[in-house]
Amino acid sequence: MSRLIVISNRVSAPTAEQPSAQGGLAVALTAALREADGIWFGWSGQTGETGDLKFETYDGVTSATIDLPEQDVEEYYDGYANRTLWPLFHYRLGLTEFERDFQGGYERVNRLFADVISPHIEPNDLVWVHDYHMIPLGWMLRQQGIKSRLGFFLHIPWPPARLLIALPEHRRLVEALFGYDVVGFQTQEWLETFHDYVEREMGGTIGENGDVTVGGRTIKAIACPIGIDAKEFIANANGPTAQATHERMMESVTGRDLIVGVDRLDYSKGIEERFNGYQRYLETRPEMRTNVSLLQIAPPSRATVQSYQEIRATLDALSGRINGAFAEIDWVPLRYVNRGLPRDVLAGAYRAARVGLVTPLRDGMNLVAKEFVAAQDPEDPGVLILSRFAGAAEQLTEALLINPYSPDEMADAIEQALAMPPDERIARWRKMYDNVVNEDVIWWRKRFTDVLTAVEPVAA
Ligand code: ADP
Ligand code: F6P
Repeated sequence: MSRLIVISNRVSAPTAEQPSAQGGLAVALTAALREADGIWFGWSGQTGETGDLKFETYDGVTSATIDLPEQDVEEYYDGYANRTLWPLFHYRLGLTEFERDFQGGYERVNRLFADVISPHIEPNDLVWVHDYHMIPLGWMLRQQGIKSRLGFFLHIPWPPARLLIALPEHRRLVEALFGYDVVGFQTQEWLETFHDYVEREMGGTIGENGDVTVGGRTIKAIACPIGIDAKEFIANANGPTAQATHERMMESVTGRDLIVGVDRLDYSKGIEERFNGYQRYLETRPEMRTNVSLLQIAPPSRATVQSYQEIRATLDALSGRINGAFAEIDWVPLRYVNRGLPRDVLAGAYRAARVGLVTPLRDGMNLVAKEFVAAQDPEDPGVLILSRFAGAAEQLTEALLINPYSPDEMADAIEQALAMPPDERIARWRKMYDNVVNEDVIWWRKRFTDVLTAVEPVAA
């Protein structure tokens, strides 16, 4: 069995400080790392002089992290990753900043990772790199003489060629992907937009079985949608904390229907558009006003980046305006909470909701949609309203799929969801639930690593 090496910007392996690994990725990879005697490498999240990698083994899983100097964090993480690639890959050219210093910092940090990690890689290892922070890393590992099998998974969308070419160094960035053996995307749509770029801009060819060839080098490019840790989430939703949360929420809405939204506070999540759609619902259905309540949970994210400060200020103002315009002395239409919740509390909130409102303007996948489905009561499930622009819409086709830019479409979907008869709710939910359970995070990990394992390592 090959050893598994995982490399990502954030490391969520369990540690003595944080003993229960956080999130679906952690769950998917921790068990595999434990079995395969692997290592998870990445940034410590701390700013400081770059020293040596700090290794920690906890509960059979080894992580190795490194601090980054302030300038690197500003140029690599805040800068190129979150002010250049994130907005561009989410189709937001107007928010995309093009600074040579950012690109310089991005390449410098990727090279640093290649330098410090390559001595720990053995020829038979499976190396799996994650997300847009680390696109050039595979290529840089090759330059260090690494011949092991290298895979890359992109958690966010792949943008259309006509958008991507706005990035001055687009060709260099995409060429770097050809350092990997396998490149994975969340959906068929992102895979096809990648194919389109390769054909248009690089004169490459798309072959059988996911082969993509440019200038004599062939890699595999696959669609491999990430799932959630469905078992854990279902157990959470049935556990005592979720039940207590459920009861508390039902008491707080006093017989009204609860609509819930849960997101990182990010402009890509369409929270402003969601508030506008909800406002349209309240304006156009005055008789329904005091029958519903929207709970939006949105912990701040990437708060040093200006576009995130701006969306936060916009949402503060908009939520205040909605409540100012529609609240009664005994009812507020919108509860807006800027805090993260523990996962079992979150599961209870999803289960208490009649409607889950997941309306990103663009999203690689969107795990909240899958968590909402997993948390429902099989006998009385809520309805998922889902943006057609979320990767999850390729799998969760029984959701009410909407265009999040249209407040009228959103208002109509809220009306349809609240009026949906139990039979239809159950039938729609059942199909989505089967998908969430069958294509879970373990399925995803296995599928990707099976393809990577089957690749012939680069000839020595
Ligand atoms: P992204 O990766 O862009 O943040 P996803 O929807 O794919 O978006 O994943 C978000 C993850 O973060 C989910 O597992 C979700 O439960 C978690 N999360 C988002 N908002 C909150 C919150 N307010 N409290 C707790 N967890 C949250
Ligand atoms: O899913 C996209 C992603 O950028 C992950 O790579 C990341 O861990 C998560 O969103 C949260 O963002 P951040 O790590 O910047 O807080």
